[in-house]
Amino acid sequence: MPEFTLRIRRYNPETGAAPYWDRYTVDLEPHRSVLEGILQVKDRFDSSIGVRCSCRAAICGSCGMTINGKAGLACHTHLSEAMSRSKDGTIEIQPLGNMPVIKDLIVDMDAVHWKKVNRVTPWLLSGDLPEREHIVPRESMVDVTQPMACIQCGSCVGDCLAMEVDPDFIGPAALAKAYRFVGDPRDVQHEQRLKDLADDPHGLYTCTHCFKCIEACPKGVAPMNQIMRLRRIAGQDHHIEDVNNGERHEEAFVVLLQKYGLLSEADVVPRSYGGNGLTGGKLSPKSGEQVFQSLPFLAKAVLRGKVKISQTLFPHKLDSESLAEVKKIYKDVKGREERLELNLYITGYDEDGDPTTSEAIPDNPNEKAGATA
Ligand code: SF4
Ligand code: SF4
Ligand code: FES
Repeated sequence: MPEFTLRIRRYNPETGAAPYWDRYTVDLEPHRSVLEGILQVKDRFDSSIGVRCSCRAAICGSCGMTINGKAGLACHTHLSEAMSRSKDGTIEIQPLGNMPVIKDLIVDMDAVHWKKVNRVTPWLLSGDLPEREHIVPRESMVDVTQPMACIQCGSCVGDCLAMEVDPDFIGPAALAKAYRFVGDPRDVQHEQRLKDLADDPHGLYTCTHCFKCIEACPKGVAPMNQIMRLRRIAGQDHHIEDVNNGERHEEAFVVLLQKYGLLSEADVVPRSYGGNGLTGGKLSPKSGEQVFQSLPFLAKAVLRGKVKISQTLFPHKLDSESLAEVKKIYKDVKGREERLELNLYITGYDEDGDPTTSEAIPDNPNEKAGATA
């Protein structure tokens, strides 16, 4: 039987002792799960290890932890897969990040995850009730099926980089939950929900698009995509200009990329706070103030070689041929009659084809030539 070495982080805040690592060797087939490895350790060597689990089938969401640097479900991670990410031949197991540890691998989900989920009013705010039932178009429900697949394991929260910097950030799981209701036609408070999330200084525009939540999620919820949908609906459909200037900041990227094909750093901050930036020749008083406040950061970035003054002041452009291609993309997208929101969780490519399309349905082999229905 193959052997695997598990390195488990031990910590009990009640004792006051510092965290430490314990090593154990388990013998299990490579296709068995990391959770089975931990349970073998508990059974054979140390029953005091704190771990939360129940279904062992990626359903209940209770075994979220960090395995070789990546958050996920221990019952849904093969030992062989965990080993393939190992740097030193061991499988390193720690509690999820961004949440306080209760004991060893158990984190306080109430203190962070559930608190944030509660923040977004996680229930349907219905208007007048119909006499019998709400009839919802199929496409609308397909749209919200993706966030509905969430099992509240907290893996995305554990790996969220924005939350590491801003612990008050509402976070990926809760914002995906918010989209579940904003995307639901039965909910009547879409605009209020969006305004609330956009105006929260730790809300909709705090996400930095790092993709970590998409990578961590065992259920394909893709929280970052749901956050982007919320932003598009807030900005493009409801024209919500938030007090954090998040919407203007996004617009600045869109406009500058269309104009130059590349980002003009000198213009991003001024345009994000109003006016049309340095190159546009118009600064709003607010943007002037923000540019002034940004000078210490800019100086630090220049000293560290992250920003070049020449590139900052003189926007670099793509060559005319490449720029024309970028402009064509903008033209194509803006020319569409409706915005396409792809839900790859449900409507991704299917090797067998879509059974609902006529091409996918075979002809009746018993049909006689010339027969009509
Ligand atoms: S994409 Fe946004 S929400 Fe997701 S982990 Fe990164 S910062 Fe957090
Ligand atoms: S979005 Fe995915 S990773 Fe986040 S809590 Fe839900 S199931 Fe877990
Ligand atoms: S034990 Fe239920 S999701 Fe892992």
